[in-house]
Amino acid sequence: MTATDVTNGLGTDPMVFRRTLGKFLTGVTIVATRDSAGKRWGMTANSFSSVSLAPPLISICIADRSPSFPAFVDAQNFGVSILSSDQQDVAMRFAKPFEDKFDGLPFVEPRAGSPVLDSSAATLVCRTVQRIVAGDHVILVGEVLECTAHDEPLLGYSEGRFFRMDPHVQHGTLVPRSGREVDFGWLIEQDKQLLLFRDRATQRWTIPMGALAAGVTMSESMSRSARNVLGVDVEPQFLYSTLDLSDERTCYVYRATSTSDLPSGAEWGLFDEQSVPWDEFKHDNMIPMVRRYFMERERDKFGIFLNLGSGRIAQLSDEAPWPID
Ligand SMILES: Cc1cc2nc3c(=O)[nH]c(=O)nc-3n(C[C@H](O)[C@H](O)[C@H](O)COP(=O)(O)O)c2cc1C
Repeated sequence: MTATDVTNGLGTDPMVFRRTLGKFLTGVTIVATRDSAGKRWGMTANSFSSVSLAPPLISICIADRSPSFPAFVDAQNFGVSILSSDQQDVAMRFAKPFEDKFDGLPFVEPRAGSPVLDSSAATLVCRTVQRIVAGDHVILVGEVLECTAHDEPLLGYSEGRFFRMDPHVQHGTLVPRSGREVDFGWLIEQDKQLLLFRDRATQRWTIPMGALAAGVTMSESMSRSARNVLGVDVEPQFLYSTLDLSDERTCYVYRATSTSDLPSGAEWGLFDEQSVPWDEFKHDNMIPMVRRYFMERERDKFGIFLNLGSGRIAQLSDEAPWPID
């Protein structure tokens, strides 16, 4: 049977065919290369597949109508970045034609023509060894020259929706993106300065935040989530805010302390109210919360923002309502 026989459409309604394919749950990759003029090209692709172990081969299918198609078909080398669950915005950026999709995104290029994104869950640097025309796609077969893998929750895709896939979560491993996802955020101070984190993908600042981690109890989940993000143990003091980051994501923000050294490095920063990079926040609705935090910190009188209904600040009293032994 030839490829044409398979795709002649006899008895196959295109909508049903698309729906059928959507039932196959995949990961999400960014496949990228450079053309002969040195321009970077990249696209979101879930047609990535392993092909052979010895030699190590993978494949990826490129649609012939894509503007990037000529660059991929001519490519001697290409890079594949397997996305982590917090790279959905990257997946969406690379799924549209755009002049330079890499602009502002940290990436490395271990071999010429094989850009791979820094914060991905795994990367593969490939040399093109076969190009197979199959219907309206070309299958690129790549020999894997280098690869890396990190221990991170993965971005999944099925039925037109993104999913968080965490292989380490026991009992039920998928959290659909269309359901409400829960993150923990941390307000941690040192010398009256607040710890902020610069998101690698967008280069914008946020309070340290991490996905709800697996755990038998909520407090275990919180501790693990904090350790995943900060690399240190934290002691939660009180819930400070419930913040909707998007239609699908809520962040429970806790004020917390840490007895260990706080993380340092290019992506971490300690800021007082004057030095906070207010114009470079990742989430706009985090700004009023952080401003309120500085104000309340100054007065040492805190409230909790509850975003139920129209949202309100509930005051915390200085005194405990009853004695605790
Ligand atoms: C989750 C997802 C998976 C995709 N997988 C592929 C794929 O495997 N092959 C492909 O050619 N296009 C795929 N696309 C579509 C391309 O990402 C999209 O057409 C992109 O604009 C191509 O880049 P270009 O416009 O710069 O050529 C996918 C899109 C999404 C959202």
